[in-house]
Amino acid sequence: MNAIPTSSLRVQDLRCEYQLNPLGIDSKEPGLSWQLASDQRGATQSAYQIQVRDRQGDLWDSGKVLSDQSLHIPYHGPALRSRQLCTWRVRVWDSNDHPSAWSEPGWWEMGLLHATDWQAQWIEPEWAEDPAAFNPCPYLRAPFTLRTRPVSARVYVTAHGLYEASLNGQRVGDAYFTPGYSSYHHRLHYQTYDVSDLLHSGENVVGVILGDGWYRGSLGIASRRNTYGQRLGLLWQLVVNYADGGEQIIVSDEQWRATTGPILSSDLKAGEVYDARLEMPGWDQPGFDESRWRGVRVAEYSLENLVTTPEPLVRRKERFVPGKVLTTPAGETVVDMGQNFSGVVQLRVNGPAGMNIRLRHGEALDKDGNFTMDHLAIEPLFPAPSQTVSYTLRGGGEEVYTPFFTVHGFRYVKVEGFPGTPTPENFTGVALYSDLPATGTFTCSDPRLNRLQHNILWSQKSNFLETPTDCPTRERAGWTGDAQIYAPTGSFLMQTAGFFMKWLRDLATEQEPDGRVPLIIPSPVGMESSLPRIVTLLKGSAGWGDAAVMLPWTLYQVYGDQRILEEQYASMKAWVDYQRRQAQDKYKPQGHTSPRYQERKPLEYELYLWDTNYHWGEWLEPDDPVPGLLFGEWTPEVAQILSAPHIATAYFAYSTHLLAETARVLGNEADAQVYSTLFEKIRQAFITEFVGENGQMTPEKQSSYVRALAFDLIPERLRLAATQRLIELIQEAGTHLGTGFLSTPYLCPVLGDNDHLDLAYTLLMQDTPPSWLYAVKKGATTIWESWDGIDEEGNPHNSLNHYSYGAIGNWLYQVVAGIAPGAPGYRHTIFQPQPGGGLTFASATYQSLYGEIATSWQIDGERFQLTVTVPTNTTATVVIPTRLGRQVTEGGVALESAVGVCGVRREQKATSIEIGSGVYTFTAIPKS
Ligand code: BGC
Repeated sequence: MNAIPTSSLRVQDLRCEYQLNPLGIDSKEPGLSWQLASDQRGATQSAYQIQVRDRQGDLWDSGKVLSDQSLHIPYHGPALRSRQLCTWRVRVWDSNDHPSAWSEPGWWEMGLLHATDWQAQWIEPEWAEDPAAFNPCPYLRAPFTLRTRPVSARVYVTAHGLYEASLNGQRVGDAYFTPGYSSYHHRLHYQTYDVSDLLHSGENVVGVILGDGWYRGSLGIASRRNTYGQRLGLLWQLVVNYADGGEQIIVSDEQWRATTGPILSSDLKAGEVYDARLEMPGWDQPGFDESRWRGVRVAEYSLENLVTTPEPLVRRKERFVPGKVLTTPAGETVVDMGQNFSGVVQLRVNGPAGMNIRLRHGEALDKDGNFTMDHLAIEPLFPAPSQTVSYTLRGGGEEVYTPFFTVHGFRYVKVEGFPGTPTPENFTGVALYSDLPATGTFTCSDPRLNRLQHNILWSQKSNFLETPTDCPTRERAGWTGDAQIYAPTGSFLMQTAGFFMKWLRDLATEQEPDGRVPLIIPSPVGMESSLPRIVTLLKGSAGWGDAAVMLPWTLYQVYGDQRILEEQYASMKAWVDYQRRQAQDKYKPQGHTSPRYQERKPLEYELYLWDTNYHWGEWLEPDDPVPGLLFGEWTPEVAQILSAPHIATAYFAYSTHLLAETARVLGNEADAQVYSTLFEKIRQAFITEFVGENGQMTPEKQSSYVRALAFDLIPERLRLAATQRLIELIQEAGTHLGTGFLSTPYLCPVLGDNDHLDLAYTLLMQDTPPSWLYAVKKGATTIWESWDGIDEEGNPHNSLNHYSYGAIGNWLYQVVAGIAPGAPGYRHTIFQPQPGGGLTFASATYQSLYGEIATSWQIDGERFQLTVTVPTNTTATVVIPTRLGRQVTEGGVALESAVGVCGVRREQKATSIEIGSGVYTFTAIPKS
């Protein structure tokens, strides 16, 4: 008998809900994905089979399914139970219907799916605290006995505040700032840990330290405290399984003991006060005398808000050893970490007991070289964050201390009270951020752009800490606009699905019944009472609230996961319907109505202009008057600027368009029709109101043109004229950009797409302000909030670690290097590098869910060479612009005879080549 030919495909990297072998899944139909590898070009999957088992036996066999899908296939077996461990394997068939071998097994384990699965009780230290003051961190402990060493053990744990847990003195897990930050009243995350190796037969001890965190610590620009509650608490459930099938459960209850110890206070923004003389050696191990400890009380809270952790948690990442310790002109001792980042300093010190060291963490030195935090204050309302750590020595040898529950955005550390002369070895910077898998790289022949790329990545690292924040210093808030602006770039550099989905769930939960989106997510209840009135009027601002629509759409493009659109659809629609009502109900708006409707009824087209309410506007354009106005008097001038109808109407149009596209993807034809008709009406209204007959726009600003061109709000016949006017405005600004937060991401794409690639490169390479490379020239190590973050004299302004202007990254990856998604999830990739700016090479890699995508090009005299990698089971289009060479070969042979090349189109402007998976090298030379 002939052997069945097996396929060249290998199935690997099995993922459940984007994760390798995850614990604590709570999706009822977890999405299963795998990667395929093959040595052959053009390899595809034609069918798959998934088999899932649990301890009892077979759970689900999909059978052979004729499908090329290899991502997010929902589990369709019997309903899954709490704590069920599922193992699974996959095989696939190739295009010749030859089966692959079965994959190595993967697994996932379900979390606690019902509130009734929790036997644990919420416990809180019994003593009274002063909510107006910072209080010492509680230490909790509970001994328990195990009859023998267990074969497996899981901890399910969460806290009001933050927790650090240990078993027998060994830390549980490697995550920090757990249980993370979310809209706590609605969704409080619990973590699941495999602690099988931390337990033994006989007496064991669980120890937990609690910190204030986001729950009751300082939040937002106003550093408001006690936002979610005043009392810290713990919920702990340890489930132990023995070899004989027996089970034992150890939970938090009234038996636990509590005390305070060396952490005298700890706050995310303010810092930490630690007195090492108060340490309690052995407190979290068996045999410790706890007789002087106090009790806990059981507290009643609903368990209905408990949800599993959907994402990578915060971990300790890079370490920095400072180059030197400086003495500033003012005589201060300052350590320079060489990199602005979010994290803490690990202090290593030897000195007498009782001596007190203070570390203040800042981002900048002033023009004279002295330590400053002034740029992080908005006086007189909001002082700069304290970001100060105080450490009192216990004495008697080397002491190593790393703060527990605080984190700072910093590069420089001002040191006071150090015993003797400090050296760099006394201070190690430890970066802390959400441990999202790194997915993207970019490099090119210009070191300044490589530095820009470095700065983008570090602003992302600094601001992806549990939620996407504006900055790691002043506000640390999940501003919706910033997240929307940066998401495409951030999702190239890291795998953001779990991180952003968690945030979007909070966004949907916190959206108001009328569809309005809060300014920041999570939006702490009562937060607005601490902000100026003008700021609170900006709730539901255009460009910010649109995160509700734009972010799910971005994620869908990057991960091809339709479930994201399904889950967010109601929220997306609620936002667009809010915009529509705002536009149409001119007489009952919340906030501002254009004065013209006070005299007459709106015309038909005006019902599609969003000219009610107030908005942040373009935000931080060079010479932007808005920030200053927000803290001043409410005048007609302020009202007029903040009404920004041209911006609001443009976003109304764009979100409506994306909603129509979303409805189409979800097969909701009725909505697709409604919203595409609505889009057309808004588009016409926008043109009538803001685009003149000669293509000139009101207001005459770079951002108006960029936005209108990017969102397709200029009639085709006027595109050329509008582009021309944009170019004039850029030239009038001395060939400088003049855009702010909202439209900067579209500036270079719009210029490139409208035949002005050279100007896009000129702006990219510009190094006088405002420009990206000005910051690079000034030695920035992160992206600044404003274009003049450090002015020509050397004085810092505003935050120096805001990622919004880093959104240029997406253009570097898609246009300079040339990797863009051509179909959702990179099922199809478009490689269309567009060299310029004197670059001689560029390359980028992206770890898609299908596998690695790579591009690398170089120009060598007249020769342009491009190497691309296309993952198995995907396809790609390679576009080589004619100006890069007219005669194109692959691997030294004519395109038509190259293996894996499925189509070639030679057009006037470019040669387009369709390819299947594999690695290809194209060479283009001028036609001889
Ligand atoms: C934040 C921004 C935010 C803005 C609202 C600022 O204070 O830092 O990044 O988007 O307010 O316009």
